[in-house]
Amino acid sequence: MSIKNIVCIGAGYVGGPTMSVVAQKCPHLNITIVDLNQARIDAWNSDSLPIYEPGLEEVVQEARGRNLFFSTEIEANIAKADMVFVSVNTPTKTFGKGAGVAANLEFIEKCARTIRKHASKDLIVVEKSTLPVRTAETLEKILHSGDSKYHFEILSNPEFLAEGTAITDLHDPDRVLIGGRQNELGLAATQELVKIYANWVPSEKILTTNTWSSELSKLVANAFLAQRVSSINSISSLCESTEADVSEVARAIGMDSRIGSKFLKASIGFGGSCFKKDILNLVYICRTYGLAAEADYWEQVILINDHQQSRFVDKLVSTMFNTVSDKKIAVLGFAFKADTGDTRESPAINVVHQLCEEHARVTVSDPQALGYAKTDLAGLEEFVTLEEDPYKACEGADAICILTEWQLYKDLDYQKIYEKMNKPAFLFDGRNIVNHQELYDIGFNVYPIGKGQLSHL
Ligand code: UDX
Ligand code: UDX
Ligand code: ADP
Repeated sequence: MSIKNIVCIGAGYVGGPTMSVVAQKCPHLNITIVDLNQARIDAWNSDSLPIYEPGLEEVVQEARGRNLFFSTEIEANIAKADMVFVSVNTPTKTFGKGAGVAANLEFIEKCARTIRKHASKDLIVVEKSTLPVRTAETLEKILHSGDSKYHFEILSNPEFLAEGTAITDLHDPDRVLIGGRQNELGLAATQELVKIYANWVPSEKILTTNTWSSELSKLVANAFLAQRVSSINSISSLCESTEADVSEVARAIGMDSRIGSKFLKASIGFGGSCFKKDILNLVYICRTYGLAAEADYWEQVILINDHQQSRFVDKLVSTMFNTVSDKKIAVLGFAFKADTGDTRESPAINVVHQLCEEHARVTVSDPQALGYAKTDLAGLEEFVTLEEDPYKACEGADAICILTEWQLYKDLDYQKIYEKMNKPAFLFDGRNIVNHQELYDIGFNVYPIGKGQLSHL
């Protein structure tokens, strides 16, 4: 089999950047990314891409029109494909059995039916979306049901890119994981996908496993990463009560090579489309197999994360003399992390909702995420204002909350900001990114995460 035409279904945060990089690195392949959403496809074909990701524009500009195409013609493109990547969204179910925990596989199932109907030859179907373990089995059953004439070989190839660093992660991944059936057809299909990645990824970084290990590894990788954030966040509370400093603790434990230094930044909590969804998924799967203790263990990672956000608001309210009603709070940062405009599961959503429950007047600022903020905060218009300029957002405020670690917020002129705030001026640093001593010296009452407060009161 020789692979020439590749289609990716789903032009989102995963499908878009991933396949753009495949096209950039493999000029001999034709890559078409298809999506039902016309506006999204139009944006991919324009100068203003639908997602903000450093370096993405350059990659798209290099390949688009050469061997990278964006289209809503799903059926015609499947008909000429040799390999189909499936990269549609798999949100947490909001209804029926498993609501709030299980993955909603509706979109992926629909894709399978579309592929079956419009394929014109044997195909390799690659799962790119994060899926519950054993989804490939479901896909296989749907693809081979009814009067299906062709053979579909399913591979699992989870994507490990992080938003904000998607392009560097794709150019230089820690590993590429490919899972397939351990028989002749499965191994041959696996090799076809290995060949594509081998165009730029060193062979020792391309791992091949059975399908189920690959599907499960994606959930487990995200669960372990999120678990580190919840672990250090649980320690941050203890630090605030004991005069230990969470940054010093993180540094000290991170130098143990068995622990490692990454992903130990205490924060307002993790967000993003993957961590919570994937852990809920893992929890649901454990319960499905009767593994109650294991399910409870992983569920705790989410409970600590929610707790960290409530704790932040509780501390803010109690510090500000037990009321924030009618006080102006400037929220700096709404995206779930820096260098992205994505707000899915952003801790800021939760924090702003809680501040509004306290009847604070909240001004939200973010360099990339205000478009989504409008939707996320719908219904709170009475309390919330959106303001891109951080200086204006802080004018007349009683407190500042830093919720996203944008470089921009490290570089602000806090002296100037302080002068225009109500006094006493409070600053709650949910990301520990500013120089707390300097701010204290200016006159702020400063409340970091996981270290002693610096207060004039
Ligand atoms: C531990 C710490 O490693 C050490 O830094 C500290 O000073 C004292 O506690 P120790 O208890 O001697 O040292 O042994 P360690 O190698 O950490 O193993 C602890 C237990 O974990 C053992 O029962 C070991 O079998 C088990 N273990 C360790 C696993 O089951 N799996 C692993 O991957 C690692
Ligand atoms: C994550 C995984 O890193 C990636 O491999 C997977 O493919 C998708 O999910 P992403 O959600 O884009 O990527 O961002 P990530 O950098 O992992 O951050 C997730 C959240 O954890 C962010 O809200 C971030 O602010 C928070 N975080 C991360 C911390 O609070 N502290 C840390 O030390 C690290
Ligand atoms: P992710 O973060 O996993 O990439 P996104 O929600 O950003 O998720 O992107 C998924 C994309 O998949 C969306 O643009 C959506 O319109 C598209 N999509 C969902 N179902 C289908 C389908 N059956 N056919 C084509 N595109 C689909």
